[in-house]
Amino acid sequence: MNYAIETVGLTHYYSKGTPHQVAAISDVNLRIEKGELVGIIGHTGSGKSTLISHFNGLLKPDSGKVLVNGVDIHKDKETLRNTRFKVGLCFQYPEYQLFEETVYKDIAFGPKNMKLSEAEIKERVFKAAAFVGVKKEHLTQSPFDLSGGEKRRVAIAGVMSMEPEILIFDEPAAGLDPRGRKDLIELIKDYRKQTGSTVIVVSHSMEDIACMADRVVVVNNSTVAMQGSVDEVYSRGEELRSMGLNVPEITEIFAKLRAKGIDVPANVYTVEQGAGILRRLASGRCSE
Ligand SMILES: Nc1ncnc2c1ncn2[C@@H]1O[C@H](COP(=O)(O)OP(=O)(O)OP(=O)(O)O)[C@@H](O)[C@H]1O
Ligand SMILES: [Mg+2]
Repeated sequence: MNYAIETVGLTHYYSKGTPHQVAAISDVNLRIEKGELVGIIGHTGSGKSTLISHFNGLLKPDSGKVLVNGVDIHKDKETLRNTRFKVGLCFQYPEYQLFEETVYKDIAFGPKNMKLSEAEIKERVFKAAAFVGVKKEHLTQSPFDLSGGEKRRVAIAGVMSMEPEILIFDEPAAGLDPRGRKDLIELIKDYRKQTGSTVIVVSHSMEDIACMADRVVVVNNSTVAMQGSVDEVYSRGEELRSMGLNVPEITEIFAKLRAKGIDVPANVYTVEQGAGILRRLASGRCSE
C-alpha cells in the first residue's frame, strides 16, 4: 500500500560537521494515510518544522527517505519539482511571504509556476479566494493594504490555488485572536471535507488539534514519541507533561469536576465538547 507520505529513517542535522551540529530530527519512521487529517504537536525545538519541511523536499535528508505516494521525492529533479506542487506547505506567519503588487498575483504565483494556462490560473485564483473568504474587490489591491487576518487568508489561498494533494500548515492560527483561530480551524476542516486532501497541521494548541485531527503525532527530542487517536494520545497526560506539553485547560477543569465526584467523562478536549456536557448535566440528562 502507498501512503500519502512515508518517512523511513529520516534524519536531519543542522550545521553538519561543525561543533554546533544538531540532529533536529533523528530516525523518524512515519506513515500518513491518504485523506487523513494529522495533527503534529511537540514542545518548542522538538523538530516539527524540520520534519514537515522534508515532506515537500524543501530540506534534504542527511539519511533516510521521504516517499510521497510511494515514490522517493529525491529520486530525480523532475520528481522533486512535482513534489513541490503536490505537497503544499504553508509556513508559520505565511503573510510575511506575500510580495506581489496585487492579491491576485500573489494567489496566482503557484499556479503560474505550474505553467497552467491563463484561464485556468484565473479560475483557480477566484476559487481559492472565494474559499478562504477573500472578497473579489480585494484581488486588485496590494496585499499590504489588508488587515493581518486577511493577509493570512491570501497567503493560504496562494497555497490552495496549487490544489495540492497534501496540504501542510505550520502553526496556522499563530497570532490570531480566538475568533480568528476558530474560523481558521473551520476553514481547514472544510477544505479537507470538500477536497478529500490529506492535511497535516502543526500546532502548539492541543485544543485546536483536538478540534480537527483524526490522528495525533507527538514529536519529542527530534523523534516521534507517540501517535494515535486524540483519545489515545491525550489520555497519556503524565507522559505529555514530561515532554513539556499540557493537555487543554478544559480537560483539566473536567478532571477537577471528576475529583469532586461529579460524573463527567475524562476525555473532554475542546470547549465545545465541555459546554455540551455541562448543558446536559444542567438539564439532568448527563449519563456519560
Ligand atoms: N536553521 C537552523 N539552523 C540551526 N539549527 C536549527 C535551525 N532550525 C532549527 N534548528 C534547531 O533544530 C531543532 C528543531 O527545530 P524546529 O524548528 O524543527 O523545531 P519546532 O518543533 O518546529 O519548534 P517550534 O515549536 O519553536 O516551532 C532545534 O534545536 C532548533 O534550534
Ligand atoms: Mg516550528
